[in-house]
Amino acid sequence: MSDYHSPVLLKECLEGLNIEPNGTYVDVTYGGGGHSAAILKNLNEGKLIAFDQDPDSLPNKAEDDQLILVNQNFKYLKNSLRLYRAMPIDGLLADLGVSSHQFDEGSRGFSFRFDGPLDMRMNPGIAQSAADILQTYEADELKKLFRLYGEIRNPFRLVKVILEARENGPIDTTGKLRELASKLALPHKQNQFLAQVFQALRIEVNKELDVLKSLLNQTEEVMRPGARLVVISYHSLEDRLVKNYMRSGNFEGELDKDLYGNILRPFEPLNRKVIVPQEEEIKVNNRARSARLRIAVRN
Ligand SMILES: C[S@@+](CC[C@H](N)C(=O)[O-])C[C@H]1O[C@@H](n2cnc3c(N)ncnc32)[C@H](O)[C@@H]1O
Repeated sequence: MSDYHSPVLLKECLEGLNIEPNGTYVDVTYGGGGHSAAILKNLNEGKLIAFDQDPDSLPNKAEDDQLILVNQNFKYLKNSLRLYRAMPIDGLLADLGVSSHQFDEGSRGFSFRFDGPLDMRMNPGIAQSAADILQTYEADELKKLFRLYGEIRNPFRLVKVILEARENGPIDTTGKLRELASKLALPHKQNQFLAQVFQALRIEVNKELDVLKSLLNQTEEVMRPGARLVVISYHSLEDRLVKNYMRSGNFEGELDKDLYGNILRPFEPLNRKVIVPQEEEIKVNNRARSARLRIAVRN
């Protein structure tokens, strides 16, 4: 694909979707359109409804009458599918997280590698940027988000330096946050620590776990029996939600059984083990290294 984004685990996703050429498919994370292009190639009379909340992705829309690209958050899945009379669907793909374009475009503020505004909104219409969060959240809220979403065990010192710094003006660039946080990390663990700090803020800004739960809860209603649910996640917090939902139909992973001991759940996981990229894929696309693919079939 283009510089915008290289699709990850492409072959595995297509196999997972098991495309019926006249079926209706959904790609909830269009991005550069790499996965969508491959789905479209496998369609005959079928159609593809794609979503992306980032207006930057819209110019990537393929010229294809069988594709509808909706510039919306995928939490509106059911309503949009109703609008386009596209229910029930035969398969859904979610390639979660941010695109290479979003990471590499300094003005979006997702990466500590480039200086730019501390923004991190996938959709510029989202009310609070990362800078707004650092400026307005109470100490306890900040600690909670760094602990939960950054998996930083003891965020006390980080929050202390943020609170002190914001007294002297907003922490409104990636450079300012990088400088503050770098001082707290062990020299050989700087990048890992910065990645955790930036990840935590990104998840909070875009409410990534809430919208993922909302999406998964809607899949049950919009998919026909036999339809495939294919999800790639890039960190353990997302992957845990996907794994539990596919196994049990809830996010805690609690199994519900009938009188005869049969598991009652909306989906049947297709693979016992999570699918990860081969070494060769990681060699040519380092961003694939953290990808975790799960596939399930609607009961
Ligand atoms: C990893 S990229 C997908 C790349 C795509 N599969 C490709 O082949 O180019 C994730 C994309 O999903 C979008 N996205 C993430 N969360 C979203 C959400 N809740 N609603 C709509 N789009 C979302 C991002 O803006 C980004 O463009």
